[in-house]
Amino acid sequence: MAQDPDQAKKLQELLKMLSLSQNDASKLTQPQRKQFEEYKFWKTQPVPRFDDEVEDEGPINSSQRPENIPNEPLPLLSEFEWCTVDITDPHQLEDVFVLLNENYVEDQDATFRFNYSREFFNWSLKPPGWRKDWHVGVRTRQSKRLVAFISAVPATLRVRTKLVKSVEINFLCIHKKLRSKRLTPILIKEVTRRVNKQDIWQALYTAGVVLPSPAATCRYAHRPLNWSKLYEVGFTGLPANASKTQMIAKYTLPKEIDTPGLRPLEEKDLDEVYDLLEKYQSRFDLVQVFTKEEFRHLLLSSTSVVYSYVVESNNKITDFVSFYSLPFTVLNNPHYKELGIGYLFYYASDADFDYSDRYDSEGSLKLKKRLNRLISDVCIKARDLKMDVFNAMSCQDNSLFLDDLKFGPGDGFLNFYLFNYRVRPILGGLRKDNSFDAEKRSNVGVVML
Ligand SMILES: CC(C)(COP(=O)(O)OP(=O)(O)OC[C@H]1O[C@@H](n2cnc3c(N)ncnc32)[C@H](O)[C@@H]1OP(=O)(O)O)[C@@H](O)C(=O)NCCC(=O)NCCS
Repeated sequence: MAQDPDQAKKLQELLKMLSLSQNDASKLTQPQRKQFEEYKFWKTQPVPRFDDEVEDEGPINSSQRPENIPNEPLPLLSEFEWCTVDITDPHQLEDVFVLLNENYVEDQDATFRFNYSREFFNWSLKPPGWRKDWHVGVRTRQSKRLVAFISAVPATLRVRTKLVKSVEINFLCIHKKLRSKRLTPILIKEVTRRVNKQDIWQALYTAGVVLPSPAATCRYAHRPLNWSKLYEVGFTGLPANASKTQMIAKYTLPKEIDTPGLRPLEEKDLDEVYDLLEKYQSRFDLVQVFTKEEFRHLLLSSTSVVYSYVVESNNKITDFVSFYSLPFTVLNNPHYKELGIGYLFYYASDADFDYSDRYDSEGSLKLKKRLNRLISDVCIKARDLKMDVFNAMSCQDNSLFLDDLKFGPGDGFLNFYLFNYRVRPILGGLRKDNSFDAEKRSNVGVVML
């Protein structure tokens, strides 16, 4: 099928959006950014400057109290009103996914769209301890149409050795017609107010854009599972000196998985897998510390969104791996309606547990071998679930397998930010030239949706 360069560009743009960035993300790559003073909003917030030398890690402003936080939101223009989106009400949940499906994508004719589902939001916005009033919306006063949204969910983080009671901010979205009107700062202030009222003063958030100041920067990587389809819809081009047959052969995965004992995670495995993950995560500097209920919710509560597997050997679980699904709708294509996309989520392995030093060469080699086989197997699982591309970031220990398993580096970067918390830079799995760093790897162990 002929390549339409416009369409190819759109899909590339769309894949950039996977980093939940906006179009400008492509221009604001890591070396480029505004001067701190030019961030009119962010310079007023408790966030580090780009040039801050961090000696003591911890909260920036720790003198606040919930009773001193205003009881009312900031006023909006008279055409708009604040709302709490009750996502237990199917109509209101629908409002959220219509807003996101139609406005996360920037191309004007909306040829491609994220295909968020009800189930995806139920999974991601309702972890244990979720609060209705942390699903913040703006509606038009007359038609009550939802035109902006931002969410917070509770999370306990570990930042190096310190536990930080926190929230994760996600799904910030403003209707395309209301862009560049400085609504973002008002939304952020409102969600901050509602979170502060609960005596929580820190937040974790990610963005493709550079803001003051990233705690870590990771890069997306994409592993084609169905190369012909990605080629036909224009996602990927044909390299000058390769044929289609060669490309298909390059990305063809084995028919069957290779790891003996790999099977779906079950309820009965939870305690063991929870301990395995906790031990594995201890190597990283930025992680979410789950309660067992949170862990259960994330890995077992939604069978059509998240897929979790374990490797059992001699009645012992040695490895665990999970990925989630967030497809695109492909509009106006005669052959394809949807692009299936899998995202690597949490995993753990005991392969290097005998080595106290994470960078021990023998231990690293064992882990690399184990992960190569495990991740290759989940790519096979994802392919069998009709996913067309598998995404991972340069975080966790992923740089050990990304190149070997033919994950191509993406254009998108994802910056991790901590609100009201000073932290020394955390490794994002990238070398200076932004290639995947298989030696140092990453110290980011949290996976943001
Ligand atoms: C991201 C989005 C909400 C920004 O809206 P906008 O209309 O361009 O920006 P506004 O005029 O409302 O606000 C501008 C301010 O918000 C900041 N901002 C922009 N994107 C931001 C983000 N993702 N996170 C935090 N702050 C952001 C800008 O830096 C600017 O502040 P500054 O003056 O301190 O630099 C909007 O582009 C959108 O909905 N995009 C699609 C979804 C998306 O990418 N969401 C981001 C998820 S991380």
